[in-house]
Amino acid sequence: MQLPDLCIAGNRIKTDIEYIYDEVKIAPIYKGKKYFLRTYGCQMNVHDSEEITYYLESLGYIKTEVLEQADIVVLNTCAIRENAKDKVYGYLGRCKHLKKEKKDLIICLCGCLMQLPTEIEELKKKHEYIDIIIGTHNLNELPQLIKEKNKQQIEVYSNSDKVYENIHYSRDSKISAWINIAYGCDKFCTYCIVPFTRGRERSRKIEHILEEVQYLKEQGYLEITLLGQNVNAYGTDLALGYDFADLLERVAKIGIPRVRFVTSHPWNFTDKMIDVIAQYDNIMPYIHLPLQSGSDTILKKMNRRYTKKEYKELFDKIKAKIKNVSVTTDIIVGFPNETEEDFQDTLDLVHYCKYDGAFTFIFSPRAGTRAATMEDETPIKEKEERLKRLNEVVNKYSLENNQMLIGKVVEVLVTKVSEKDENKICGYTDTFKLVNIVGEKDNIGKIVKVKITDAKSFSLDGKIVTEQVNA
Ligand code: 5AD
Ligand code: SF4
Repeated sequence: MQLPDLCIAGNRIKTDIEYIYDEVKIAPIYKGKKYFLRTYGCQMNVHDSEEITYYLESLGYIKTEVLEQADIVVLNTCAIRENAKDKVYGYLGRCKHLKKEKKDLIICLCGCLMQLPTEIEELKKKHEYIDIIIGTHNLNELPQLIKEKNKQQIEVYSNSDKVYENIHYSRDSKISAWINIAYGCDKFCTYCIVPFTRGRERSRKIEHILEEVQYLKEQGYLEITLLGQNVNAYGTDLALGYDFADLLERVAKIGIPRVRFVTSHPWNFTDKMIDVIAQYDNIMPYIHLPLQSGSDTILKKMNRRYTKKEYKELFDKIKAKIKNVSVTTDIIVGFPNETEEDFQDTLDLVHYCKYDGAFTFIFSPRAGTRAATMEDETPIKEKEERLKRLNEVVNKYSLENNQMLIGKVVEVLVTKVSEKDENKICGYTDTFKLVNIVGEKDNIGKIVKVKITDAKSFSLDGKIVTEQVNA
């Protein structure tokens, strides 16, 4: 058993990254048994769940959406804010209850929360019925741990200097795929737990990524999204003479119709990146550019490495050079001792950028991060009230931007039946706007032209106007 310890910001030793090419060989020894997998948090976790699914299905398990039918339950957890953690513990209550009736049920917890020593201690003390606890750095050990399920097993590594290649995924979609380009984060924004849960920044080598893109193209995928906590830092750790702009260009040239990437950090978003995005029609004109705060004082306390002025300049460059680009953002309100004036600076930036959308959060102290120890006098009521005011402004602009599309014809990659209305289909525009569409289900998996008929803050309505434009 290996217990994690929190690494200290800025005090880590850089070692060479080891690339591991093992094939995990798995026999289907649990044929006919059922798995229930629940994923919390960001796209990284969603993509990790596709790896977990591969392991479970290779062991012979088949998927169930009904917890009570499961022989194994896997909760892929998130640690980003306290409410993400609360959801996991809430669900664990149901699992515990089920285990009382079903003694052979295997309960497995994985994901970011498992990287926190305090959580492991609590789970060991109060949740002894959990069979397997596995961290974010060694998912490939899951099949073995399942086979050895005779005692509570905890396999968590505090950090990693490894990049696994040859990972197999059972991807959720046959149309749109995630591709990891880098793991971890070295930025250490003072509020953020990610550098502790995902470890130091490790880039995959360009040839491995390109091979995966080529493979997905041959499989018929129409869209890929390059994934990293901070994609524009891609390659820095390798020092092999290529950067994210080079990667993006090489990926675009492979010719998958839609290439996306998340998430970008405003600090090292280069002109070269902007030029590549502007140059290739298959790189989608959509950028998620987390602001976090519009106040220079708060940005400094957050260790974000840019000022309000620098963010605005970058935003202007992006808007000027990339045709029809849409920009979304993340904003935190109520960072320790954020004043009304600081908050006004954030609102100012939102008025300036008129974002197409924003994910907004109240600061949630994460034990082990620098911000969690900062003095904070602002009452929660005031933070809630700021969030409300912020959301009103954010929603107003996203609605206005969406309304400008009414009557226009846009291209949509149709991915599934609409969640709102089973008689409709849905998908995303190139600018990453969700459209619910009146149209036949056989359009799923195609890029079609859609006339926008109505707009809301978070989605558009439309109808198909011509046949597909791209198979
Ligand atoms: N409290 C609130 N929001 C946070 N985020 C990250 N850490 C915290 C925290 N401690 C937000 C940031 C980030 C997004 C993924 O989650 O806005 O961009
Ligand atoms: Fe967290 Fe993103 Fe900052 Fe990294 S860059 S520490 S993932 S907010």
